[in-house]
Parts: sequence; C-alpha cells; structure tokens
Amino acid sequence: MTGFYTIDDLTAVLGDVRGKIALVREDLNVPMADGAVSDDTRLRAAVPTLAALSDMGCITLILAHFGRPKGKADPAMSLVPIAAPLAALLGRPVGFMAEPSRDALSALSPGSIVIAENSRFAAGEEANDPALARAWAAWGDFYVNDAFSAAHRAHVTTEGLAHILPAFAGRSMEAELRALDAALGNPKHPVAAVVGGAKVSSKIDVLVHLSGRVDHLIIGGGMANTFLAARGVDVGKSLCEHDYLATVESIFAAAEAANCTIHLPYDVMVSREFAPNPPSLRSCNVHEIAAEEMILDIAPASVEMLGDVIKNCATLVWNGPLGAFETPPFDAATVALARTAAALTREGSLVSVAGGGDTVAALHHAGVAGDFSFVSTAGGAFLEWMEGRELPGVVALERAKR
Ligand code: 3PG
Repeated sequence: MTGFYTIDDLTAVLGDVRGKIALVREDLNVPMADGAVSDDTRLRAAVPTLAALSDMGCITLILAHFGRPKGKADPAMSLVPIAAPLAALLGRPVGFMAEPSRDALSALSPGSIVIAENSRFAAGEEANDPALARAWAAWGDFYVNDAFSAAHRAHVTTEGLAHILPAFAGRSMEAELRALDAALGNPKHPVAAVVGGAKVSSKIDVLVHLSGRVDHLIIGGGMANTFLAARGVDVGKSLCEHDYLATVESIFAAAEAANCTIHLPYDVMVSREFAPNPPSLRSCNVHEIAAEEMILDIAPASVEMLGDVIKNCATLVWNGPLGAFETPPFDAATVALARTAAALTREGSLVSVAGGGDTVAALHHAGVAGDFSFVSTAGGAFLEWMEGRELPGVVALERAKR
C-alpha cells in the first residue's frame, strides 16, 4: 500500500484548520424500510471522521449519494431522512443544506456539520464532469474521502475533487485500506480465502487473482458445484454452470502453478426440493448424489476439514456464503465455519477480514461479525479489490500525496 494523507496530517499540510470548510465524501447509501434506516452500519462508520473534524473546528459539508437516480432529482432518494439518525449517532446536530455555497458554509459556526442533497441528482456527478468538480470544489478548502465502499466509482465526489483540493483519507477509509492491506496486500502467511456465492461466472476475476495470492482457496456456495463437476462429479439437479468447466480448469491450473491449494467439499447436504427443512434432506459423499437431488450446503465432516485448514492459517479473507444460507438449515456450514474463524480471531491466532453484502449478513446471522478482525462496509468495492483492481477513489488519494 502506498501512502495517502489522513486527517492526522491536516494541520501539518494546511496549518490551523479551525473555521476551514471540509468537503467530506461519506457513503450514506444505507438500507431503508418504511422511511427509516434499517441498518446503520455505514452511518456508524462515518462518525469518527465527522466527530474529529468537528472537534478541530472545521465546517463540514457531507457529500454522498443514495440509490441510483441517474442525474435527476428524485424525492424518494433524498438524503433528508439521513440527517436525524446521523445526528443521533454523532451526538451533535447535523443540518441539511439544500443549496450549498461557499458563502452559506462560511456563515456556519466552527464545528458545524451539514449534509448536501444526493450528489447523483446532478447529471455531472457520475460522468466525473470537470466543470462540476470545479464548481463543487469552490465550496470548500479541502476534501476528505471516507467512503471506501464507493471508491470503485470515478465520480466527482469520489475522485474528481481529489484532483482539485488537498485530499485526505477519513478514518473509515483508512481503517478499510489498512485491514485490506493486512489481508491481501501484505499479509502474514499462510493465507486462506473463502469464496462462496452462487456463480463462478460472477467471480472469475476474484478466483484468478486470489489463486495467485493465497495459500488456500476454499470454494463454497453454488460455485463449488461447478468446481466439483469439473472434477467429474455428477452434481444431479444442483445449480451448476456447465459452460464454465473450462474456466474452472484454468483456475485449477493457475492455482497449481502458484502453489495454492483449492479446497472443495467431499460431503454435502442434498435434497430433492429447495425449501426450509425439506423431508428429503440428507448428507452424502459428493459421488453419491442422485440425479434428482441438489446440493444446498456443505456437510459437517467437510466443514470440520475446512476449519482445520483455517486453524493452520494466519490470515483469512472471506467473501460469500458456503450454502443457501438464507433458508434453514442450509446456513449451517457458513455459521459453523464463521464461528471457527471468530474463535481463532479471539484467541489471536488469525487475522480475519470479511466483506460483501451477503457475507456481512451471514456473519451477523452467525452472531460473530463483531469477532472478526475487520468487516468491510463495502459491497462492489470489496469485490473489485478482491479482483486486484485499482479503485479510482483510492488511487486519487495516493496521487494527492505524491
Ligand atoms: C454500495 O452500496 O455498494 C455503494 O454505496 C456504491 O453504490 P453504487 O453501486 O450505486 O455505486
């Protein structure tokens, strides 16, 4: 990881920042239900940066998107409902500024925090329009990017502003980048990766990148069926991408060349129907799946074997569930392996980093999200990082320090 400025560098770079205007990119794209925030993880992640800037006497304008309004104002995607829950978490007022300007911001008292309307209501935001970037940059004195989960987008608020204003990483951005560096950039070996999810086709680049970086690649979820099929297993009615057998063969070859061991289950939970607690549920060896059965989870003996792999590792990175975890009892393998990883992390023998929407939901379901070393707030950005891609928002922060 190369360097970037953080908010600890503010005074050294800018001098006294009291009364200076900070344009702070947060990710306020939170799940809502009936007009209320249903998961405030991303709001809580924003608190340390906002509190630190307020304590330093900066005037903060929060820039953020919500949903995908495609360059047009849509009241259903307004950020107005976010101000109150954010203020409650911060324990200080958060205002809403419908039409930001340098004059309006300068009139606020030092330490104030206000939110601007959904940045994606402006047509130039997603196009990273340089004229819009200049217009918005004129509102502030410096820029802080605290939204790792939006850093895979090259938009005005995630990338363009860093070209114009002095640019710093916020606390959440910094924590994400340090954790991800400890997991894959510069990890302690041996490293294991768990990659689950339905389809190989959606994670080819992740699998190829990881096979060259980790020592053990544990494949779960529907995509394990395609790997098993490539190894000659008849997977019955299981979800399987038969068109991707050649891709899987190339991943096996890449892993072998890089000394990475791919771990597949040897016994699985199968059923004739996909329903909660189906009567036809049984565990069997992967070579005993009947034509009318489908694989829905990994069976306990294989989960134990995978647990032993993790026990011998120093670092774990996890993306994707091992089975159809939203339907009981097909959450069992994911829950059991997550608990093993959490116990090893608590004992201090494992650094564990997880990310991606389904994964975080699965760890919460297993009751262990708080025991992992780090759980990313990111969905798409985490996957792109696992693919080894450069994230424009992060590159812009690094360039700002050069
Ligand atoms: C996310 O929810 O992953 C981020 O906020 C990015 O949102 P986007 O996929 O609409 O760019």
